[in-house]
Amino acid sequence: MTQQLGVIGDPIKHSLSPHMQQAAIAAAALDATYQAIHVTVNDLANFVVRAKQAGYRGFNITLPHKTAIMEFLDDLSPAAQNIGAVNTVIIESGRALGDNTDGLGYITSLAEDAKWEAKDKTVTLLGAGGAARAVAYALLDSGANQVCLINRTIEKAEQLCANLENLFPKKITYSEWTESTLMERFAISDLIVNSTSVGLNKSRFDLLPLESSPQHCLISDLVYTPRITPLLQSAKDLQRPIHEGLGMLLYQGAAAFELWFHQKPNIKVMKIALEQALEN
Ligand code: ATR
Repeated sequence: MTQQLGVIGDPIKHSLSPHMQQAAIAAAALDATYQAIHVTVNDLANFVVRAKQAGYRGFNITLPHKTAIMEFLDDLSPAAQNIGAVNTVIIESGRALGDNTDGLGYITSLAEDAKWEAKDKTVTLLGAGGAARAVAYALLDSGANQVCLINRTIEKAEQLCANLENLFPKKITYSEWTESTLMERFAISDLIVNSTSVGLNKSRFDLLPLESSPQHCLISDLVYTPRITPLLQSAKDLQRPIHEGLGMLLYQGAAAFELWFHQKPNIKVMKIALEQALEN
């Protein structure tokens, strides 16, 4: 029987996941389909029941349901619990297990695309939303020495810091978004990550003193439309190494594929499909 999979969200039309997952399924010659499925927040509980009944192998979850889905699942992985969000569900023996491959996807992308490892590194993370939480958790879980959260609304950085402090005592801090704190933090950073929505459609930060970062500091942007955001362009102009956001999307999808099918997908094929879908 053809295995069913998909990605749920609201809206869902623009999701790139079907393109890369269908390509990976075809490359592995699996009898499976992966569809984009529009599910509203009020229909989340029903969808989980329907997916189990219809024999789904699993599904991805995108905005805005990554946290709301959790209460309707039978079990949660440690990553999902610690990040407080689910992006991948695996259905086995009628039970729905929630996992989160966003953080792992980010770490894998750093390793594969930028040859960068988190161990003992100092990081400045801009933003304090859902993406920041997955990235902060994954960096600390991979041995980063220090992650400093800087967010426009400082209360959200404080809250996220409090959430992760129990797991990683003394390793996570937060600071206010001012020119002087940004300069201070950048000066001691091995990695600066933008997890805010700034950069989308070429929007820019008003002020970001990137030049105070050391020459080796990797500048990473989670935004991938455009692929080279204004932040990454500034980093290039300053001759800092850069890391594009598309890799996180690719490798979170690859990790989900592996959870469903217990085999590694063809990354090259997935990447080409993703790049083509993005161009269109
Ligand atoms: P996601 O789940 O993708 O992380 P989110 O939870 O909506 O998205 O978070 C968006 C992030 O972008 C927030 O950290 C937000 O800062 P605030 O908490 O102050 O709202 C940040 N952000 C959005 N626009 C910004 C801007 N112009 N300058 C700085 N940060 C901005």
